[in-house]
Amino acid sequence: MADDVVKGPYLMVMNPGVYFWCSCGGSKTPPFCDGSHAPKKKK
Ligand code: FES
Repeated sequence: MADDVVKGPYLMVMNPGVYFWCSCGGSKTPPFCDGSHAPKKKK
């Protein structure tokens, strides 16, 4: 197991609002969706 893995709960103080939780595992800003799940457009 890597040393940088969080081994317990992580406190997050959040402002009221709507948040999108990443369910694909591809986000660069976990645990929130950053749009990385979207298919890339072909040129
Ligand atoms: S659901 Fe994972 S980046 Fe959007």
